[in-house]
Amino acid sequence: MATAIDLVRVIYEAPDLDVTEGFMTDFGLSTAARTGQTLYMRCAGSQYHLHVTHLAEKARFVGATYAVASRADLEELSRLQGSSAIEPCSEPGGGSVVRMSMPDGFLIEAVWGRECPASLPVRAPNGLNDIEHKPRVNTSTRIRPTPGEAVRLGHFVLHVTDHDASVRWMRERFGMLPSDHFATPGEGGAAHGSIYGTFLRFDRGRELVDHHAVLILQSDTVGTHHCSFEMTDLDAVMAAHDHLLAKGYDLDCGVGRHLMGSQIFDYWKAPFGFRLEHYTDGDVVDGSRQPGVFTGTAGETTQWGMEPPPTFFQ
Ligand SMILES: [Fe+2]
Repeated sequence: MATAIDLVRVIYEAPDLDVTEGFMTDFGLSTAARTGQTLYMRCAGSQYHLHVTHLAEKARFVGATYAVASRADLEELSRLQGSSAIEPCSEPGGGSVVRMSMPDGFLIEAVWGRECPASLPVRAPNGLNDIEHKPRVNTSTRIRPTPGEAVRLGHFVLHVTDHDASVRWMRERFGMLPSDHFATPGEGGAAHGSIYGTFLRFDRGRELVDHHAVLILQSDTVGTHHCSFEMTDLDAVMAAHDHLLAKGYDLDCGVGRHLMGSQIFDYWKAPFGFRLEHYTDGDVVDGSRQPGVFTGTAGETTQWGMEPPPTFFQ
């Protein structure tokens, strides 16, 4: 089985690259490259360009790209039914790519051998003086509302018509592990009913990874719920929140703290009907974590903060 080690890109289509570039810049990303047909945005971190928008008549989510550990992984994936051959990747950073189509038609790419420019400078996290640990001594915190602190792409969320088939497809190809599940309440003494959502993470053994790189949700519709970018710290999330409000963008839901994954989140409505998230302080896990099953209500998935609007769960 091939091993995916990182989420490196999400891919969209949209009818206006200028509008997309303007929003993404205010959201804290910067332009890595642009052609007449494609916009490549980056965060500050080592993933390089991680948000791709192709010019098209209609807006839609296309898919995502994982980095795999070796060329042998690409060779293995290329031999599977429905996979492309190994091809040179024409995107910035190059490398080799295998393209696959998962259930419901999402494009999933595996890349290896990219050459990425150096990370951009970001400020160090602000030390928080909590009741037990007070690392900030003889100095003060000073924050300005500003974009520019989005450091990396953390995860994306898929709405699919067959949860089990999509999870199986992802696990069989990339060795991903379940971190948690959503399930209906159990009946007749059962611990839970049917599982309709699965958080999947990369398997890097003892190395720490995010609680999830993708969440797969059973749905009547096909598409993405959101993609999510990790910020330097809570001050970065809140400063970006104020910046986006001042720019007149539409807040969707935030700030609050999730139950599953524990992230402090802030969701914004992006142009063309897309939804993007800033987050910080998410759970990290290693290969030993066993998945839990959550059977509560949608509202109970927020521990504190803004109540998600009904449209958030559609
Ligand atoms: Fe998220």
